[in-house]
Formats: sequence, C-alpha cells, structure tokens
Amino acid sequence: MTDIDLADSASAASLERTRLRSHEIEREIASDPSRFRILTGDRPTGRLHIGHYFGSLANRVRLQDLGVESFLVVADYQVIYDRDGVGEIQDNVLNALADYLAIGIDPARTTIFTHSSVPALNQLVLPFLSLVSDSELRRNPTVKDELESSGRPMTGLMLTFPVHQAADILFCRANLVPVGKDQLPHIEQTRVIARRFDERYGRANPAEPVFPQPDALLSAVPLLLGMDGTKMSKSKGNTIELGMDADTTARLIRKAVTDPDRHITFDPVGRPEVSNLVLLAALCLDRDPTAVADELGDAGGGGLKKLVTEAVNERFAPVRARRAELLADPGALRQVLRDGNERANAVAEATLDDVRTAMSMVY
Ligand code: TRP
Repeated sequence: MTDIDLADSASAASLERTRLRSHEIEREIASDPSRFRILTGDRPTGRLHIGHYFGSLANRVRLQDLGVESFLVVADYQVIYDRDGVGEIQDNVLNALADYLAIGIDPARTTIFTHSSVPALNQLVLPFLSLVSDSELRRNPTVKDELESSGRPMTGLMLTFPVHQAADILFCRANLVPVGKDQLPHIEQTRVIARRFDERYGRANPAEPVFPQPDALLSAVPLLLGMDGTKMSKSKGNTIELGMDADTTARLIRKAVTDPDRHITFDPVGRPEVSNLVLLAALCLDRDPTAVADELGDAGGGGLKKLVTEAVNERFAPVRARRAELLADPGALRQVLRDGNERANAVAEATLDDVRTAMSMVY
C-alpha cells in the first residue's frame, strides 16, 4: 500500500466509525433529546436553494422538532474567508432568516444569530489559537480544497477557519453538529481543541470538562446535482432557490440536461442527469425514486420535467408564500435576529466567564 492508499483507508474507516456513531446518536435523540445541543450554520454568501433544503435544512427542522435545543449561526464574518468583500450581505442575511422561518425553524427552540454580533464567541478564538499548530491547520483537507477553489492565496482567516468554527460550536457547548462529510475535519479539530483546553486549564474534576467534545451527526442525505448535472452551487447558477417563483422554477427545469433515451429510469451512476431529476421529484413528493421512474415509464425528458416542475412548485408553494409574507415585514425579521443575538450573547458571555476562570484571568 502506498501512503495515499493508507490515508484513504484510514479516512474510510473513520468515516465508517462516524456513520455508526451517528446511528447510535439518532437512537439516543429519540429516547432523550434533552441530552443534546446542536449547532449548525451557513455562510450568507447568496440565497439558500433546494440543495441546502434537502441536504441539511430539512434535517435541522427534523432535529428541532424532535426536541433538541438548537443554535443556528448565520456566519457573516466567515463570508470573507474565501472572497474579497461582503457582497449583498444585508440582503442575504434577511433572506436566509426568511427561509429559515418559512421552512419551520422556530426561534423559540432554535437560537438564530449572526456571528459578528457575538463578541464573546469571537474572543474564544484567541485562546483556541494557542492550542493548534501551524502544520495541523495546513494539513486540514477541507481548508486545502477551499483554498484551491477560491483561487486566492492563503489568508490568516482561511488558515485558521477551523479554529473559528470550533469557537462557533463550543461557545454554546454544542455536543452535536449535523454536517456533511466535507466538514468532518473541522469537527475533529474542534474535538482536539476542546480536549486540549481541558488538559491545559481544565477543572479538577475531569467529569466536568469546560468544553464537551462534540460529535458530528452524519445523516443519509441525498446528493442533489444542479440542473446542468454538475455539483449544485450558487456560483454556477444551476440552483433552484427556495425563494424563486413558479415560473422561474419551470424555466430552469425546462433547461435542465437530460439524455435521448425516452425510457425513464433511476440509475444515478449510469444516467446522472435524468436520475437527478427523478430524485428531485421523489424528494418533493416524499416517494421512492425508483417508483417515480417506473411510473414515468416512456414519458421522455419532457414528461419527466413536467413532473419535476409540478412537484417542486407544489412542495415549495407554502414555503414561498410564507417567506414572502415574512419579507414584507423586515422589522419583524430583524427583531427575531435581535432576540437570537441577545440570547447568543448571554450564552457566549457565560462560557467566556468560565474560560477566564479556568485560565485564572478574573480580576
Ligand atoms: N463552514 C460552514 C459552511 O461553509 C458554515 C459554518 C460556520 C458552520 N460555522 C459553523 C457549520 C459551525 C457548522 C458549525 O457551510
């Protein structure tokens, strides 16, 4: 085996362990949701789309509704880690808020806050930075990938991104972070920071660590591609945004890539574009993709697109109506954020107090 094979099989094994642990955690949540606190987050770099919805937003609502207390960071400071400038930040934040509320995130159970509004959270970054090495940060595969796709030179913010994310998670002592595979290195770095903090400054009783070591929660989420059959991404313009109207949605789906075979099947490897559309319809209809494909039979690309358009527009009609209502009253949306920020600040200040106490910095 080469070094690369070894590294691959080590990471495959650790992925498998995380999967097994995630199943166990799902069972624990079902029996006692009060043992968990979740943190999730998005960078407000654009509009949220159906890939975000089926890939993670719906799962957050599910976990919230199971009774797990949740925090949701709108990671505005982190917008600038891979680009110059903040873009349409005000608009993006307000739209993200409307999307969250419209899909069922409940501010009474999920604290929604903006990163830049919580100074005590950001202050955790300083002691945390002392707990990581330069080579550890440079090795982080997610940072490496994102550096490459940013097409820019490394900045201090990008290099230390995993440490910022550790502060996002640990400020509220979240012990569970629902994420996709690509975020696992950051969760591992967070666990290392939590452990090292306690080794260095921990309380006398190891049963009461200052910080928990959070678990990643990997869920079996479907991978939706964009309408051109490549990775769905806002920068490629191949997404269907949650807030798009029915006509725009229809136009995008009409342009979607298919293939000449009129017989519709669900075969993600052999026919990725057609299968992606089948999957999208199935997700919207809460049905099995193979059954959806069988029913379409020889309907061809046109029949498939007709079904997908109806399914997406029907599924998201209530969400779209609700978000339009919410956006009609930006004052009320801002109040939701102010309340979330107030709560996040209280939690962050309490944690920072504990950190200063642990570090003997109370004067
Ligand atoms: N890094 C995440 C992303 O790019 C966003 C994020 C910021 C986040 N802070 C977080 C995710 C903390 C989980 C936990 O989508």
